[in-house]
Amino acid sequence: MAQVSLVKVTKIYPGDVLAVKDFNLGVEHGEFVVILGPSGCGKSTTLRMIAGLEEVTEGEIYIGEKLVNDVPPKDRDIAMVFQNYALYPHMTVYENMAFGLRLRKYPKSEIDKRVQEAAEILGISHLLKRRPKELSGGEKQRVAVGRAIVRKPLVFLFDEPLSNLDAKLRVQMRTELNKLHKRLQATMIYVTHDQMEAMTLGEKIVVMKDGRIQQIADPHTLYNRPVNKFVAGFIGTPPMNFIEGKVIKKDGKFYFDSGDFQVKIIDEMIPYLKDYLWKEVMFGIRPEDIYDKLFVSEAPPENIVNVNVEVVEPMGSEVYLYLNSGKYSFIAKVAGQEQVETGQDLEVVFDMSRVHFFDKLTEKTIV
Ligand SMILES: Nc1ncnc2c1ncn2[C@@H]1O[C@H](COP(=O)(O)OP(=O)(O)O)[C@@H](O)[C@H]1O
Ligand SMILES: [Mg+2]
Repeated sequence: MAQVSLVKVTKIYPGDVLAVKDFNLGVEHGEFVVILGPSGCGKSTTLRMIAGLEEVTEGEIYIGEKLVNDVPPKDRDIAMVFQNYALYPHMTVYENMAFGLRLRKYPKSEIDKRVQEAAEILGISHLLKRRPKELSGGEKQRVAVGRAIVRKPLVFLFDEPLSNLDAKLRVQMRTELNKLHKRLQATMIYVTHDQMEAMTLGEKIVVMKDGRIQQIADPHTLYNRPVNKFVAGFIGTPPMNFIEGKVIKKDGKFYFDSGDFQVKIIDEMIPYLKDYLWKEVMFGIRPEDIYDKLFVSEAPPENIVNVNVEVVEPMGSEVYLYLNSGKYSFIAKVAGQEQVETGQDLEVVFDMSRVHFFDKLTEKTIV
């Protein structure tokens, strides 16, 4: 059995607020799992139920072999790191890290050994005598992680632990958490609303929306094979472009027709789209799969779309182009060297091997 298992877990808060619905997940020993989703989708509730801070309305939670639904938090062998650090202001860093062990009546020498070791791992040995108000945000976050490490828990839970840090520090801490996971070989469940963070940290990502799991997969699969329009739009920056239109047939060939433009559907996708012929579908293409025709040798004429450039957003190594094809606006991500100006007309090429189609009603991926 997995280290942590959630079986059909549902949480309904008083007032009939459905926060989590039929959540099924197995986390293996030593695995790093990220729960990803927009604010309010039920991430913290899920984590708090695993920690025992929130009662489960329906379903079962196992840690190891043990059903823990009725086990109090302190007996679950779990450590949780929160977004707001929650350090004790009047205690030193050392005391903050030692506190949990003291409560559990560990011998002094063992406490000292563990605190020194954790401080060493986190590079905060020189800060042990300081109080939280004398620390930067990043240092406070390290202490909060240190407090979890000294416990040597079976499972670490992280609830958006980096969201109070500035962008640069976030990236740095991300790398450190990765290393920490490798070093401790611990089971970790990490919650975030930030898809970049999820993609760089997670071996396995659980995408949630409105309390329900949408897809569980590795970063590569989420990006390339999203199961529905929500996942497709949530993973990737700038997000996937969605364009409404119809599947049509002309001279024996299948096309996507937006009303403004038509692009030819590749043969491999036709079997999936047969039932949608002459019907409305949602077409999806990522900004990185739209190219400036100038830079494509032998662009297939049926994949070329005429657009007007509305906004040019230089990002350094790349440029975001906000394009308009008449009724539709969409974004292309092109190389930073490209000389494109606002207001100019442009021919762009759609990489039709990379596009997706979604059912308009169910929003499930057709192909
Ligand atoms: N204590 C509570 N009482 C009632 N509703 C709550 C409570 N905590 C969270 N909720 C609701 O449950 C849903 C999920 O919240 P939460 O798990 O905090 O989401 P997330 O962490 O993904 O932002 C939200 O609609 C939120 O308003
Ligand atoms: Mg939350």
